[in-house]
Amino acid sequence: MAVLAPSILSADMSNLSKQIRFVEMGGADWIHCDIMDGHFVPNITFGPILVKAARSVTKLPLDVHLMIENPDNYLEDFIKAGASIVSVHFEEVVHLNRTINRIKELGAKAGVVINPATPVSLLKDISLNVDLILIMSVNPGFGGQSFILNSLKKIAEASKLREELNANFVIEVDGGIDLNNVDNVLAAGCDAFVIGSSIFGTEDITTTTMKFKNIISTGRKIIT
Ligand code: DX5
Ligand code: ZN
Repeated sequence: MAVLAPSILSADMSNLSKQIRFVEMGGADWIHCDIMDGHFVPNITFGPILVKAARSVTKLPLDVHLMIENPDNYLEDFIKAGASIVSVHFEEVVHLNRTINRIKELGAKAGVVINPATPVSLLKDISLNVDLILIMSVNPGFGGQSFILNSLKKIAEASKLREELNANFVIEVDGGIDLNNVDNVLAAGCDAFVIGSSIFGTEDITTTTMKFKNIISTGRKIIT
């Protein structure tokens, strides 16, 4: 079964524990935390303090997506705050192998993220070392954007790369996934679905979570 990772970027922050509870009741597997610094992306969200708060209200893995400059300086803070998976952007990190190793040494799973304009082929040499590859299907920075169709091809390429190298990374997709396109994302080979506004922007968050969960539950079995 694939993984459903609702993004709290679109949650009602004044009621965070309740919002997390709603997606838990709907069958969410991970909680996706979007960290933005106003430099790597043109938006600012939250930092380790909120990750710690989320950690205190759920036992689900916290999937932390760092859209920040110099992520190396903050790895320890986020992992101490309770991050289970930490993903850094390929476009930002210079010594990626070192950063990935550091995340693992600190006790978290390590992921690498690529923007829509970054090809999957560039991940070949790191792919045996990462637990997760996150394919951005929107330009990072904001929730509620439209899915970039070319991402479907990239998901399939990542799947092929995994097969060719006999690698074991999870393929995660982030941005613009809704009830109309989730089937296509699944069919392309996505294992972990990040969904923000199409879950938290709906009237009945638990029922919507269940709907997504039902659709993706035919996917690959992931042990987390
Ligand atoms: C975008 C974030 C996404 C975002 C997805 O920069 O990385 O995680 O929350 O939100 P939706 O599902 O609304 O596109
Ligand atoms: Zn994200």
